[in-house]
Amino acid sequence: MSELRKILLSKKTCKSIWFMRQAGRYLPEFRKIRSQNQDFIKLCLNTKLCSEITLQPVKRFDFDSAIIFSDILMVPYALGQEVKFIKNYGPELSNFDFKKFKKNDEKKFSKKLENIYKAIKITRENLNKNKSLISFVGAPWTLLIYMLNLKKGKNEIDLNRLNHENLEIDQIIKDLNKYLCIHIKNQINAGADVVQIFDSWAGLIPEKDINKYCFLPNLEIVKFCKNLNIPSICFPKGIKNKYKDFKEIVKPNCMSLDSEIDPMWAKRNLKDVVIQGGLDPKILLKPDDEIFKAATKYIQTFKDTPYIFNLGHGLLPETDPDKVDKLIKFYRNFNG
Ligand code: CP3
Repeated sequence: MSELRKILLSKKTCKSIWFMRQAGRYLPEFRKIRSQNQDFIKLCLNTKLCSEITLQPVKRFDFDSAIIFSDILMVPYALGQEVKFIKNYGPELSNFDFKKFKKNDEKKFSKKLENIYKAIKITRENLNKNKSLISFVGAPWTLLIYMLNLKKGKNEIDLNRLNHENLEIDQIIKDLNKYLCIHIKNQINAGADVVQIFDSWAGLIPEKDINKYCFLPNLEIVKFCKNLNIPSICFPKGIKNKYKDFKEIVKPNCMSLDSEIDPMWAKRNLKDVVIQGGLDPKILLKPDDEIFKAATKYIQTFKDTPYIFNLGHGLLPETDPDKVDKLIKFYRNFNG
């Protein structure tokens, strides 16, 4: 069994490190492949390249886990929306069509993503047995933001639209959960052994709606993973002290901290759960001593509890890979 699974399932303390977005634009070997593959969705569906990109950071840094190179938006893509990634802007999806959405079925959906499952299979075959292969999904709320094009500014959403289309939204969330669970099951059957659920925009949910849009949909997915005996890691980014309610209601194996959460607060308030991450990815743009000082805070705080070293969000494209290497070595050599 991989070290990560051991920590997640038996809550034992031991060292384990991987980074969100460990495969990505900060790596020259990724940029080379990306420059020859302009269409990001096509790249995610290229079995051979997808597996190669997944293994790039593991080869370079010997991370303890690999996370399959894919995107949370592959699910809306498989459910019939066109997904484009626009340079210096981000993802853009074609208009959502409820009637078309309702016409989806499990077989068609799985077929559209089959190359991802093939990539997981060959990656597992090429990955050392003691390393985890992490699969992931976006939580329904975060997917909805993109699917319905709800984002207004950097940290604002169009609540009016959300309220007016209320009835439909409940149905969309329900259906999305069904397809997310199918996607998880397919990834596990292909050889993934841990699931991370990204709710990257949970922080935009109005407080009164957090149960309906965040806790309950995440709970359903976590329950599904438990039934498969697959450990789940939840990342409800931006919900501040609601991390505690989230943990108590959803009860995943692990809570992944964002950089706003004070590690001491997390240690006091998030009990009986494995903790992951927290370190601000922006710190990797600073001089070494600042990086090590910030990392020490997390390592020291969680030294007697099961803790997976990771960041509070994905690695930034402008990160120097040498800094990543230094941070990993610092963590591995830390004796304090
Ligand atoms: O972590 C990993 O190494 C695995 C790969 C991974 C990607 N996306 C590849 C990617 C994972 C886990 C994701 C998840 C994802 N995708 C999330 C949740 C995590 C988070 O960052 O909050 C979200 C919100 C998305 C949606 C998405 N995909 C956005 C907003 C963007 C554009 C902005 C950006 O960060 O680049 C993407 C594109 C994307 N997904 C890239 C990569 C490597 C960059 C593509 C490029 O080369 O231009």
